[in-house]
Amino acid sequence: MPDNRFQPEPVLSVIQKRVSVRKFSERPVSRKDILTCLEAARLAPSAENGQPWRFIILDDPETRQSFGESVFSGIYRHTRWALKAPVILVLCADMRKMTHRIGSVLQKTPFHYLDIGIAGEHIVLQAEELGLGTCWIGWFDVKKARKFFKLPFGIKICQLIAMGYTEKKVISRPRKRRKLKEIVFYNQWNRSTDQKEKGRQKTG
Ligand SMILES: Cc1cc2nc3c(=O)[nH]c(=O)nc-3n(C[C@H](O)[C@H](O)[C@H](O)COP(=O)(O)O)c2cc1C
Repeated sequence: MPDNRFQPEPVLSVIQKRVSVRKFSERPVSRKDILTCLEAARLAPSAENGQPWRFIILDDPETRQSFGESVFSGIYRHTRWALKAPVILVLCADMRKMTHRIGSVLQKTPFHYLDIGIAGEHIVLQAEELGLGTCWIGWFDVKKARKFFKLPFGIKICQLIAMGYTEKKVISRPRKRRKLKEIVFYNQWNRSTDQKEKGRQKTG
């Protein structure tokens, strides 16, 4: 049966509409929709096709609540808004892959974080297309989160994503973003833009 709700949208229009959502309605999110988002993540590129991502779906209200009470406490209490999100996705990385460990040492680039970042943004954009709001969460107690799931050695929790229907229609707000000319250089590093940036950092 084709899903009549599903109207594919140009990627840029999905990106333009997306904003971080921190207020959710109580409307539950179907596991089908969550899995559609995770399918988008599954197809993401990754270093050496290592696919280090593992996802824990927290959609049981009691489990989610006790997880939230634990990881959004103390200095992390500012993230308590996420207790109202009907779904929290826990983005884990399997660090036991040799390629990722070598990459981190030789290239000084934590490839697993890149991979999880790309997969996570696939989730966020797919969610947006399905009419769901999301917010990345980096401000939580990672140690407590590890303990909560009794994670084995080598599995790292990188980020969380809160997901749900927005409390009210999101009114699109102007995006605070640098202009393209400030961040894009053709064929060379642009020193004059860089000098301006340095000046801005000093005064800012
Ligand atoms: C890796 C990452 C971690 C983030 N962590 C948090 C967080 O802990 N709490 C929060 O409220 N927002 C968090 N955000 C959301 C950012 O604050 C938000 O994306 C940024 O301000 C731009 O706003 P916009 O997403 O509405 O365009 C995070 C975003 C990213 C990409």
